[in-house]
Amino acid sequence: MNTKVVRIKEEEKTRETLEKNPGLLEAAEILKNGGLVAFPTETVYGLGANALNEEAAKKIYAAKGRPSDNPLIAHISCMEELPAIVKEIPEAGRKLAEKYWPGPLTMIFPKKDIVPYGTTGGLDTVAVRMPVDPVANCLIHLAGVPIAAPSANTSGRPSPTCAAHVQEDLDGRIEMILDGGPVGIGLESTIVDLSEGVPTILRPGYINQQMLEEVIGKTEIDRAILSDDSGIKPKAPGMKYRHYAPKASLTIVEGEQEKVTAKINELLKEGEAAGEKIGVIASTETAADYLGGVVRTIGSRSDELSISRHLFGILRDFDTLQVDRIYSESFETPQMGQAIMNRLMKAAGHQVMEV
Ligand code: TXA
Ligand code: MG
Repeated sequence: MNTKVVRIKEEEKTRETLEKNPGLLEAAEILKNGGLVAFPTETVYGLGANALNEEAAKKIYAAKGRPSDNPLIAHISCMEELPAIVKEIPEAGRKLAEKYWPGPLTMIFPKKDIVPYGTTGGLDTVAVRMPVDPVANCLIHLAGVPIAAPSANTSGRPSPTCAAHVQEDLDGRIEMILDGGPVGIGLESTIVDLSEGVPTILRPGYINQQMLEEVIGKTEIDRAILSDDSGIKPKAPGMKYRHYAPKASLTIVEGEQEKVTAKINELLKEGEAAGEKIGVIASTETAADYLGGVVRTIGSRSDELSISRHLFGILRDFDTLQVDRIYSESFETPQMGQAIMNRLMKAAGHQVMEV
């Protein structure tokens, strides 16, 4: 299959212009006909298919090499599209939708029969998200059906934060890639389960626990997110897989910044003396303090989006550069710290060194 890439420029991203964009219209046709289109969202690039068409959903699993028990998120473009796919919308869901939709929040509801088990991995619930990215939102609107979309990467690789990452993984396996440039957030959406009991966060993201609690009161966090005990089964089936695994072994070094820098420099020296190629994930503030290795600046500690946005791309870079070992500083930033560290810890297989 030849994968067509269509670039959407910044100045083309108004709703009016997008609705007439030939690339978007073609993408919507592909989706209606059961094909696959990768598209930008504010979190990561998604791999879309008609969520109500079981055969189309199956193609997603095949293209990604994704285990079929791992359910897909159904993406909608406006609130009017929600009642068609969910049995009931609890009060908490209404309030969260009002505050954070469209945006980087996914909510889990009891599903209606129209949503096939092929989309929900056999579950009676469906995860729903309404992206705010203008290209994503308009594409879903034009397709006229909810769009199932996991991150557009090969299963096990870091989620794609630009069209080139999608091409790396899925070229020749899908009909089209809409290239809307690099994403703004760079980590997948927050997932909150509203299908039973106290609302529970199954995956941390840009919208953190405090932001949810400001709107709906008490929430819980799935224990599996907070623990490094792989024996605890996460409630989001996809969270159990070892995601984001770089080819090199990654270690997070935690502690006072001066000690962290000194420790990484020491490890660097040792590694290089042994003939190893070492990667370092540093911040803008500290990058110049490292005395060797392949240093990548993730972003500034005073701008957490600059950190979240570059994390997956840096992990991909280190795969390409074929480093043997990676050392990373830790990034416990105020709003997204939990989400950033959740992804980084998974990539590190929970290898942490305290100094
Ligand atoms: O930001 C995002 O959410 C991106 C963009 C493309 O929207 N999508 C994304 O999808 O991250 P994916 O498939 O990579 O991750 C979906 C996660 C998986 O961990 C899956 O197990 C969980 O959501 N999930 C989906 N439906 C669920 C359900 N009914 N119950 C529990 N977990 C569910
Ligand atoms: Mg994913």
